[in-house]
Amino acid sequence: MAFDPQTLLQEAKGLQEELVAIRRDIHAHPELGSREVRTTARIQAYLEGLGVEVKPCVETGVLGVLYGGKPGRTIGLRADIDALPIQEETGLPFASQNAGVMHACGHDLHTASLMGAAKILAAHRDELCGNVKFFFQPDEEGNGGAERMVKAGCLQNPSVDAVFGGHSTTSKIAGHYGLTYGKSYAASNPFTIRVRGQGCHGAFPGSGIDSIAVACQVVTALQTLVSRRIFATDSAVVTVGSFHAGTAGNIIAGEAELKGIIRTLGPEMRQKMCRMVKETAEGVAAAMGASAEVNIRTSYPGVVNDDAFTALVQETMTELVGKDGVHLETIPSMGTEDFGYFMDGIPGCYCDFGFGDGRKECRFPAHSGQFCANEDGLAYAAALHVACLLYTSPSPRDKRQS
Ligand code: NI
Repeated sequence: MAFDPQTLLQEAKGLQEELVAIRRDIHAHPELGSREVRTTARIQAYLEGLGVEVKPCVETGVLGVLYGGKPGRTIGLRADIDALPIQEETGLPFASQNAGVMHACGHDLHTASLMGAAKILAAHRDELCGNVKFFFQPDEEGNGGAERMVKAGCLQNPSVDAVFGGHSTTSKIAGHYGLTYGKSYAASNPFTIRVRGQGCHGAFPGSGIDSIAVACQVVTALQTLVSRRIFATDSAVVTVGSFHAGTAGNIIAGEAELKGIIRTLGPEMRQKMCRMVKETAEGVAAAMGASAEVNIRTSYPGVVNDDAFTALVQETMTELVGKDGVHLETIPSMGTEDFGYFMDGIPGCYCDFGFGDGRKECRFPAHSGQFCANEDGLAYAAALHVACLLYTSPSPRDKRQS
């Protein structure tokens, strides 16, 4: 396929009306993570109608494969499809019909954009070098549906050489893109710390060990890890968001439970912070005659964009919308995103698609009941998915061949 970015963009814009209709239908029928039954059926029927092979993968979500007419690599394109437990307050004619559930994070936009990309790619399959896999993944907001798809083998048969995806943002106008080199989203590790002292009568502290006093010191010490134990140029967040202990004012509590989350950028910082949280909690508790049982779980792996692939994506974006439409982000997000699971030893790039209007209508952030988006961004997001693929064939690390 001769790569002409402007022709491609026009082709995507030709689908705009259809993409808006798809997006509004999905928006009106949002489904929570792992319950995306209707959404899954909708995507599956659409892909099958295009002649894209749909393979069994996980219960909800869709794995599609489009085999190109020429040999080449296999690229994975990903969109998340789940909604949030939020009551929609936009009053839009296509507002959510499911009380308490809303596409408030733009995953309806991602889904519609990738369906549009599938349509364009399917129309050009004979000219395509290599294959495209479509990852319509469930449950991004909840329990990492990406991990389940990867475990179910979505990266094999044919094996994926590079993976691309993006998130909508209303902080950039439609027709603009954002991109970060290297570390771009945090990894997360939720933790539970059980501080065990010795309960006793409130009048006689000497006969017990006050778990509340100990747990307070543990919280205080944890708050010095980021400020005093790592360099100011490194990034981490340690949040204790829950503290429970005790039953009555005249009883010294024997046990206290803390819950929190560690967020880090890059694998080294992740390992270091997890180790320090454990050592600090155990050490402080021991110094005060108590003990701490620290349970740190592994959650989303973070997103670290591959430099070479990201450079190709940047070039592709620039060819589509010009350099003024491409925003290089220098500050990564301490938020999490399960896209990182797909970058399981393969280069990947995760970017931002502009869905703002630069005016008041789209001023509400994601995860707000009043979130709304400028649908003009759909064609641009669809075009970028397609362009990345064409640009990276046959190898994500080589320059364009045609
Ligand atoms: Ni999201």
